[in-house]
Amino acid sequence: MNVTSSTTQLAKDWAKGYTSQPEEYAYQIKDIEGEIPLDLQGTLFGNGPGLFEVGRETIGHVFDADGMLRVFRFQEGKIYFENRYIRTEGYVKERIAQKILYRGFGTQRTGGWLANIFNTNLKNAANTNVIYWGGKLWAMWEGGHPHQLNPETLETIGLDNLDGLLNQETFSAHPRIVDGTFINFGVSGMSPQTLTIWELNQQGEKIKSSSYPVEGFSIFHDFLVTPNYYIFIKHPFKLNPVLWLLGIKSLEQCLSFDNQNTTKILIISRNNQQMEILETEAFFGFHHGNAWELDNKIYLTTICSDTFPQREKDKMELDKMSFEKPIFGQLWQVTLDLSSKAVTRKPLLERSCDFPSVHPAFVGQENRYLYLNVASEATNNAPIQAIMKYDQSNGQYQMWSPGERSFAGEPVFIPRQGDVAEDNGYLLSVVYSASTHRSYLVILDAQNLSVPLAKCHLDHHLPQGFHGTWTSENFLNGVS
Ligand SMILES: [Fe+2]
Repeated sequence: MNVTSSTTQLAKDWAKGYTSQPEEYAYQIKDIEGEIPLDLQGTLFGNGPGLFEVGRETIGHVFDADGMLRVFRFQEGKIYFENRYIRTEGYVKERIAQKILYRGFGTQRTGGWLANIFNTNLKNAANTNVIYWGGKLWAMWEGGHPHQLNPETLETIGLDNLDGLLNQETFSAHPRIVDGTFINFGVSGMSPQTLTIWELNQQGEKIKSSSYPVEGFSIFHDFLVTPNYYIFIKHPFKLNPVLWLLGIKSLEQCLSFDNQNTTKILIISRNNQQMEILETEAFFGFHHGNAWELDNKIYLTTICSDTFPQREKDKMELDKMSFEKPIFGQLWQVTLDLSSKAVTRKPLLERSCDFPSVHPAFVGQENRYLYLNVASEATNNAPIQAIMKYDQSNGQYQMWSPGERSFAGEPVFIPRQGDVAEDNGYLLSVVYSASTHRSYLVILDAQNLSVPLAKCHLDHHLPQGFHGTWTSENFLNGVS
């Protein structure tokens, strides 16, 4: 097979991982290779797109697909699986109407501009992350409020404004938990925007909040926290909303990446709410790894690409995706010198990668290991398929690949109980196999990725997901 046809096959396989899963299941996984570690007790909650069609209409972008939970509950060496759609207003109304009723990031209502003009009510797809905090399970989407769910039954309770904490602000899908404090942000307005940051205690109650004006239009998907700072990377976007308001183009098509401008890094003191802005050359990236302070500098890791992966048309057409263009980024370390105000960047990994994370106890602290998804190929742009443990102290890494026609999702690190050694834990990831059109949960030992501890095969496929989190409760209540 030549390079072009193998690349085409890879794109087709990758696109097949975004096939709808309309069924909702609940069963004990019995098809298991290997052993489930007995100390793995709790729940892996995952979220991601589930449905790419409404009736006979196809949505325009995976970001707009209805959120579907993927839930793996662990109890005494057994695993119980459930997937469940979040009953958002949009999900419920569109299932009844059997046609697209809402615009999205890259989705337009059928019927041309007349069907879209002055319609600024994007669907809250509740599809990006899910987290259990303060006794609540939240399905999160960065353009609106979280949906609260019952962690036992997975029933949708409804939109949650956190007892009135949220008004017009969004509530991002990338909270950070530092020293037992839940920290998240939201924005209001379009251009300029107001950025608000909240800190919540373990009961989900507000400890503090603060708001900041931000010039122009920004896409803040993720952020970073250290003991003394919140850090936001403001990539250079321009938004021309006129054609969007007139219904002619989707929001995505009205964005442009301004590579002649600079990327701005907002450094906000958690102590006195002062904001300082440093600048560096233009780059884009959805996700950040970690940040830490040392010698009046902040070091951070982030996924960088030269530009935003903007499409020419409002169509999914994932099988036509060209991986010659960098749709995923590369891992860089950025250093912010708080004395000289200099920003320096250096690449850590040339390979295409995404979804970086660290041991939860090292969020905001200097970490040695970073866990992330990477392309199998070391240099070419390609879809992410494998799981890597990257050692920042020496650039060495361990990697586990699921094979050439399979795609591993975000690796979630779960520390072994009672031990804070940075790599003493498990990595859990949902893998999609295009050859079988089924998915499985892989359990890796973070100290030795070479051979999985277990592969837990589902009876069906799951569309490739976005983000998930672990909680030590399994909410099983007597299931055995
Ligand atoms: Fe994300």
